[in-house]
Amino acid sequence: MPVAAVPRAHSGKPTQEKENSNDLQKEDYPFHHWYRFVLSYPPHLVRKYLEIFGVQPGETILDPFCGTGTTLVECRRHGFNSIGVEAHPHAALASRVKTRWDLDVTLLQARAKKIGHAAEAELGALALPKQSLFAEMVAEDTADYGGLTADEAKLIPEGFLSPKPLKRLLILRKHLRLVTEGLDTAYREFFYVALSHVIANGAGNFAFGPEIYRTKAKEDYDVTGHFASQVHSMIADLVHAQAVQKDWPSAKVVEGDARTLEGVDAGSIHAVITSPPYPNEKDYTRISRVESVLLGLMTDRGQLREIKERLLRSNTRNVFVNDDDGEWIADHPEVRIISEEIERRRVALGKNSGFEKLYHRVVAHYFGGMARHFSVLTKKLKRKARCAYVVGDQLSFLLVPIPTGQLLGDIARSYGFRTASIDLWRTRLGTKSGTRVREEVLVLEKL
Ligand SMILES: C[S@@+](CC[C@H](N)C(=O)[O-])C[C@H]1O[C@@H](n2cnc3c(N)ncnc32)[C@H](O)[C@@H]1O
Repeated sequence: MPVAAVPRAHSGKPTQEKENSNDLQKEDYPFHHWYRFVLSYPPHLVRKYLEIFGVQPGETILDPFCGTGTTLVECRRHGFNSIGVEAHPHAALASRVKTRWDLDVTLLQARAKKIGHAAEAELGALALPKQSLFAEMVAEDTADYGGLTADEAKLIPEGFLSPKPLKRLLILRKHLRLVTEGLDTAYREFFYVALSHVIANGAGNFAFGPEIYRTKAKEDYDVTGHFASQVHSMIADLVHAQAVQKDWPSAKVVEGDARTLEGVDAGSIHAVITSPPYPNEKDYTRISRVESVLLGLMTDRGQLREIKERLLRSNTRNVFVNDDDGEWIADHPEVRIISEEIERRRVALGKNSGFEKLYHRVVAHYFGGMARHFSVLTKKLKRKARCAYVVGDQLSFLLVPIPTGQLLGDIARSYGFRTASIDLWRTRLGTKSGTRVREEVLVLEKL
């Protein structure tokens, strides 16, 4: 059977839909297309608020939940310094790589060739497995070959990778590591991001809608072909950027927690453009799980839990017994009413699973965590700094409405902010409710 071809990035859509969709438009490909996830917002939204806020060259923009770096890339492209904070190691890696524009492209080209040749040579001589995915690959010599350990295999949701693509990915990974040995880690990370693109945009049996779901299993996939074309277009972006100028504004990525904002200097930030998690049932560690495991960023359940603990509480999969962020908003009347209403409805509906019992606590911890964030953010901002928070209203917890933007504006008031506006960005069809819910941009101003 022929291997599946590298997919084209996306097809055309009507203009209005394009405006509102998260798809990348052609002019936004450079750097953004290196790797982004379904939760990313489109670059034009960042441009819009840079313009509305009247940010000047040399000023610094903060994205405290920077994900895969849309804000940082867009700031760099338009002459503004930026700082991103991100708690998930894989998203932080993507942001770091997408904002490193000074890599030696000749070295990258040479190493890319070596990786490709070595991987192809080994694959050519190999009988690829037919059926047994993990049974065959888990037991292999992990030190040399770089196969999955049993713990790593358990982290990959069932059916998300077929045997042949997985084998190809593991061999490619092995040569990627060998060929980048002894180089600055930036080079290995560059190729890791290309590998992530291959996994998420072709080799894996999963898609997003917006939740991650399993797709029809691919028997095989052109892993090395996709990798080569992705690396090629990433290098082309670097060549172009380096030909145009070399003194880009700074872009710093802190792998850290927006609730503490360590690594961000007091009084240094002119504006914020960001999108925090929303209070819903999205498990952020699942979205890039396969990439995280194959890149060695997540090796067992203990590490998965550690990563979950670093994230803002926003779903029942990352709420833990000792969590206490909720105490930060214990006296907030509206959050308390919503939380109590969720619990009342759960009892009335007889929903008694462990996860359902946590619904009301997620909401309290979510808004409490955001209160913690605002309490430290206020110290990092210059006076009159403006902040854009892209957030969505929610109905995920037994259809109890959660007006996220309005509540966050209200909470931020206690930390020296005023709500300048709440702008409608788009509406989205709720999967469970069947009704349209608002996604908005909450604009805050530091007083
Ligand atoms: C909606 S996504 C942001 C997407 C981003 N705007 C982009 O374009 O890629 C929210 C991000 O917040 C991160 N996050 C969650 N809790 C965090 C925390 N406590 N500190 C920093 N980042 C966090 C998640 O890992 C996720 O990448």
